[in-house]
Amino acid sequence: MYKPTVFIIGAGGMVGATTASALAFKETVSNLVLIDIAEELVEAHATDLNHAAGFNNHNVHVRSGTYEDLHDNDIVIVTCGAPQKPGQTRLDLLSMNVKILRSVVSKIKQQGKMVYLLIVANPVDVLTYVAIKESGLPKERVFGSGTSLDTARLRTTLARVLRVHTRDIEAYVLGEHGDSSFPALSSAKIGGVALADFPGFTAEMTATIDQDIRNAAYKIVAAKTASKYGIGAVVSQLVEALTYNDSSIFTVSSLVEGEYGLSGVAIGLPCLISSQGVRILDHYPLSDTEKQKLNHSADIIKAAINEVTA
Ligand SMILES: NC(=O)c1ccc[n+]([C@@H]2O[C@H](COP(=O)([O-])OP(=O)(O)OC[C@H]3O[C@@H](n4cnc5c(N)ncnc54)[C@H](O)[C@@H]3O)[C@@H](O)[C@H]2O)c1
Repeated sequence: MYKPTVFIIGAGGMVGATTASALAFKETVSNLVLIDIAEELVEAHATDLNHAAGFNNHNVHVRSGTYEDLHDNDIVIVTCGAPQKPGQTRLDLLSMNVKILRSVVSKIKQQGKMVYLLIVANPVDVLTYVAIKESGLPKERVFGSGTSLDTARLRTTLARVLRVHTRDIEAYVLGEHGDSSFPALSSAKIGGVALADFPGFTAEMTATIDQDIRNAAYKIVAAKTASKYGIGAVVSQLVEALTYNDSSIFTVSSLVEGEYGLSGVAIGLPCLISSQGVRILDHYPLSDTEKQKLNHSADIIKAAINEVTA
């Protein structure tokens, strides 16, 4: 198994620092490099995280660094950007965060290394598209966290409502990581049983579940400014998936080129993640209504892409 060096750009912020902390405890990671315009802050985070590793069973080395430290096959996580403010939609953040992303991508490109690039900053689908187009990296190596956090929220909610373990839940949220995302419940399964047939599940629960996960981010941001533990844990799992030869399925944002009848957009879909990178799992069964929702989501992301690439 290959143990990658993981870079976090924006590691001084809430999401970057929490992701660093989640990764420092993963046995699959042995080197973490923290980068931020707040240099002293990331140096302090690195020291603090090294202390946290003092009682770990594995040796992880955390340090602050620069883009010149990049090598082939390193994993670069981009969390830098302005966070969502209360009442602000993710698309409101668009122009500011595209500008920051372009400056980061151009510094990575200058190094000419064959890295994996994982975008987390919002609006994540738009930023992922820009990163794929401007990084010069193969599309399998550039992806966004997409709706993987939303899927984690769906699994947690279903587990609570149906009183089963999250590992027995196979259900995905797809589309834009934003207001038009939707839980694709028509193919959801609990312990191999179709959700609709699962004992205790009623059709009325669908609306509550949908509303619960849709409002989760807004509620967290209103109460504590930023969401960080959920995304930190999810990103650490995406990094782990990149280190294995076997593929794991996550709903990340990837460039569609005909899959699901879509093209010219990066959007959250079930994808296979392994050390080969990311590949969209095509033909995951969707109902007609879910296909319409996916198309609607793609239209919203495309409109935003057009605004920044026009
Ligand atoms: N994809 C998801 O599911 C998800 C979930 C939560 C948050 N987010 C997004 O993550 C991003 C970060 O959120 P946060 O709460 O950590 O914000 P934050 O303000 O706490 O952190 C942002 C960090 O980026 C740094 N930064 C800014 N410009 C930089 C540059 N050019 N180079 C290096 N570092 C730079 C800042 O110094 C700061 O430390 C936001 O866009 C937020 O919306 C995404």
